Formats: sequence, C-alpha cells, structure tokens
Amino acid sequence: MGNSWSPESWQKLKAEQQPDWGKADGYFKILSEISQYPPLVFAGEVRELKQQLSDAAQGNGFLIQGGDCAETFCDFRADSIRDKLKILLQMSVVLTYGASCNVVKLGRIAGQFAKPRSSNIETRDGVELPSYRGDAVNDIEFIEKSRTPNPKRLLRAYNQSAATLNLLRAFTTGGFADLNKVHFWNQEFIAQSPQGKQYEKIAKSIDDALTFMRAVGISSENTSALKLTEFFTSHEALLLGYEHSLTRQDSLTEKWYNCSAHFLWIGDRTRQIDGAHVEFLSGVDNPIGIKVGPSITKNKLLSLCEKLNPQNEWGRLTLITRMGADDIRSKLPPLVDAIKESSHKVLWVCDPMHGNTYTSKSGYKTRHFDTILEELEHFFAIHKAERTIPGGVHFELTGDNVTECLGGAREISDTDLESRYETACDPRLNNEQSLELAFLVTDLLRNGR
Ligand code: PEP
Ligand code: CO
Repeated sequence: MGNSWSPESWQKLKAEQQPDWGKADGYFKILSEISQYPPLVFAGEVRELKQQLSDAAQGNGFLIQGGDCAETFCDFRADSIRDKLKILLQMSVVLTYGASCNVVKLGRIAGQFAKPRSSNIETRDGVELPSYRGDAVNDIEFIEKSRTPNPKRLLRAYNQSAATLNLLRAFTTGGFADLNKVHFWNQEFIAQSPQGKQYEKIAKSIDDALTFMRAVGISSENTSALKLTEFFTSHEALLLGYEHSLTRQDSLTEKWYNCSAHFLWIGDRTRQIDGAHVEFLSGVDNPIGIKVGPSITKNKLLSLCEKLNPQNEWGRLTLITRMGADDIRSKLPPLVDAIKESSHKVLWVCDPMHGNTYTSKSGYKTRHFDTILEELEHFFAIHKAERTIPGGVHFELTGDNVTECLGGAREISDTDLESRYETACDPRLNNEQSLELAFLVTDLLRNGR
C-alpha cells in the first residue's frame, strides 16, 4: 500500500465494468446507508483465512474455492445453500482423506452478485438493452425496466449475503459440518453413482476411525478439530461503491478490512495496474486473489504483485490462473518462472472453468468436463516441472443436479443441456461432476507434489 492509499483513493482512478446507476442521488444515499450497517465478516476470521492460505501456498494445505458464477435473488433457499455447503464439504473430505492434507474451504457465496461483461449492451432481435451485470445491479429478464440498474438491489444483496452467512455459520458451528456427519452430506441422487459409492467408502473409513477415537475418549464434543467449522466466503470485488461501503478499520490493529467477505478477488477484466480496483484492494488487509488470464504479460503480473503485496507476505496474494486447456502450456510456465525469479510469495490456484467456455451447437454456453480436467492436469504437471506448488482449485459449481457442463460420468450431452440449464451466468458443474473432479484432483495432488 502506497502512502497515498485511503478507503477513497480509488475514486480518482478509472474503474472498469461499473454500472450506469442513473440518478446519482439514490445510489449515494444507499451506499451511505450500507456504510452504517454491521460488517458481514470479522477481522479475526479474515486473519485466520490468511494464515491458512499462507500454509497452503507453502505446501501445507490445499484450497478449494467454489460456488455459483452468479448468485441470484430468486435462488435464495435454505436447501440450496445447504446443498452447496454439502458438496464443498464432500469435496474437501475426499481431498483431505485421499491426499492427507488440510483443505481450506472457500465458497463463492454470500456476496457473489456482480458480473463483469464483455459488452455494455445486449441486442436481441434488434432490441438493445443494458447487459445483465448480476442481481446486485439489474435483473436478467430482457425488458427495459428489469435491465435498468437499480441501486436498491445493493441493499438486497447485502441482506441476502447476511442471511446466507447466518445459515452457513449455523450449519458449520451447529454440528452439521462435524466429521461424524460425513454420510449425511452424500445426496440421494448421487449416492448410487460410482462417485457416490466411492465417497461412501471414505465415509465408512472415517466412521470407523471416529468409533475408535470415541473409544479412547476423543469426540467432536471435546476435540474441535473434528468439527470442520472453518468455512470462508469470497466474491469478485467488482462494484467498488458497495465494497467501499463495507470497508472498516479494525480497532485492534488499525488495519482496514473489506468486511463484505473474507477473500476478494480482482477479475481478469479489472486488473489494470493503474485502475481503481487494484488501488482499492491494495489497501485492505484481506487475502486477495487476481484472476490471471492468457492476455497478461510477465511485467504486468510482477507489477500487480508489487502493488498488491509490497511486504511480500505469505497468504496475502493468490494467483488464480484461467488460461484455457489449449493455452496453459505456453502461457503459464513463463509466469511461474518470473514469479520464482522475483521471489514473490504467492498461492497458485487453477480456475479450469473460465478459459474453457464456448457456445454449443444447441446454443448453450457450456464447458466440457474433459477440457476442465485437461487444464487441471497441465496445471499440476507444470508446477511439478517448475518445482512450485499447485495450491488449489477454483470451480463454478452447485449442489443441484443441473445440466450445464458437458461430460462427466453421466456423459451429459449437448441435447441434455436444456433439461436443467439454470445458471444466471456461466455454466456450473453439478453435484456429481464436482465430486468426480474432487476424486480426480486428489489423484493429481497425490502424484503431483
Ligand atoms: C468469474 O469468476 O465468474 C469471472 C468472471 O472470471 P474471470 O474474471 O476470470 O473471467
Ligand atoms: Co463465471
């Protein structure tokens, strides 16, 4: 953080991907209202996550970051929040058990309501309207009233984030995430699949171990490590007015924290070194991610590391690479070399989703399971060759049985996509595909480092 940083210093710089909020009055009034609201997360929790990311970056742990591309106001139900938590817990059990390493659990949840878009305008049958930018900004329905940005939606995003976090906290501290609930996380519709059965085997071994431990006096009542209570939240820090209004100074350390989520990332479209997003996040003490796409250069990446992590602190910076299965082999190694040479301390994470999106014949935006796996395989192989640490994965997924990504054990085909294509933005792995990938990532991790 330069000396000139303040929570407002970003306002002098160009902010890409901001909605046109129309009448400024309503917008600023709402931001000032939110700035009086309670924080959603707390500095102590943020510091705990940073410590865990620091461990993962140094090879003592592994990050799973996952959730919707875009959360929506209409899919706001206890069941769907619970099922997203379930699948992330299941994936982390598979990895912890299979690769014997601590898994840091980070949801794209409780705040992932804003989307960057490639165009400001969407045209359908000659009609032009503002693009959908996430439920915090406008509604996806293609009519003028819905697509006009409405700052009141920021209040709703805050409230839904608070209620979602409340439920996640209740689930994780109230026993739902205890290891003795491992069977309960397996959802009925996948229990009979090969992945569901493979998962049950792990759950059974964990049960046996827990029975043994109970016999010698160790249980989740007296041993907090058996409660998988630690679950963290993240989203793209896109709407700077909103993020700024939830930024607070910690009374204990006098550091600034963005209290809208534990972890914030800067998207591939807003990572300009002299832009407002980088400036804003350079001064908050949360752990920060940068999405690193194929267009970045070595020098740009190094400047971002210097600006965002001037103290070169472990755990502060996560580089989430999203090159695409075709590009990763030529694009990632030079970046890894540059970071190695400059001794920047980073956590390397693979997002195998965003470089592998295309429109299928039937017209749906999709991704193929095999391509996702291919990018992951290259990611692990590159880090093995470079002797660097592949520290985590970043997925767009849901606990529901949707049909948005092709392939996987059930071989979802182009003609299946229409049956349950429900995403508001990018296609998500369904529950079964997510669990299948967790097993495959476990193999890669076991062989790869
Ligand atoms: C996303 O994570 O949904 C996203 C838009 O990613 P990226 O910035 O990497 O394109
Ligand atoms: Co996305």
